[in-house]
Amino acid sequence: MTELPPIEAFAGPDAAADAAADAILHALTHAIAERGHGNLVVTGGSTPGPVYDRLANAPLAWPTVRITLSDERWVDPASPESNEKLVRERLLSGAAGQATFTALKADGADIDAAAWSADLAVAELSPFDVVLLGMGADGHICSLFPGNPMLADGLDPASARLVLAAPPGDPAPSQPRLTLTLAALASARLILVLATGAAKRAVLEGPPDKPVHHMIAAARGEVRLLWSA
Ligand code: 6PG
Repeated sequence: MTELPPIEAFAGPDAAADAAADAILHALTHAIAERGHGNLVVTGGSTPGPVYDRLANAPLAWPTVRITLSDERWVDPASPESNEKLVRERLLSGAAGQATFTALKADGADIDAAAWSADLAVAELSPFDVVLLGMGADGHICSLFPGNPMLADGLDPASARLVLAAPPGDPAPSQPRLTLTLAALASARLILVLATGAAKRAVLEGPPDKPVHHMIAAARGEVRLLWSA
């Protein structure tokens, strides 16, 4: 996909969260009907929580759903910064807790070894039926940050890697990360980017040189941009 998909503007974050949850449930319902299971990737950050609240007890064959993360901070899963903690508390708190969740961060101190382990685990869920991403004001998605030393590898659509480690960078990220690669995202049947605020809309509509634009260009499935003021 090369052109910017239309930006779907919603009245506010609640309406955008409604739309994201509906799209996820529709995609997973279709996947389960077609293939007996659904593969979902969910993101961290401050935006997606209301989507997870809407999904947590939504009517779906959750035992047939497999969930993993778009990226993870290299922190203890009990840390308030942990994306795994966010997902366990907001998404896996109700009926959706019957899904199979694959964390990216495992025990152990070596982030590169963890990236290899996560790579193997994520391969079991690829191609993803639906991916929910946020976007930073710098145009990053997952933990694919502009200027980061691993960005070229992370954005290589021909990469054999599905998960890579990302070192801290200036100005971001403040801590090491694990991240899905563009190669992992490209085969997804549906990618939802959920973003709020004028600054992020300007990034989406601006020069197509940010990680989000690389994802849009590489995506072989549908990409939807869900935005609210
Ligand atoms: C993370 C996310 C990251 C996030 C963007 C947007 O670990 O922080 O996966 O990619 O989606 O940074 O974050 P906000 O939703 O907080 O703006």
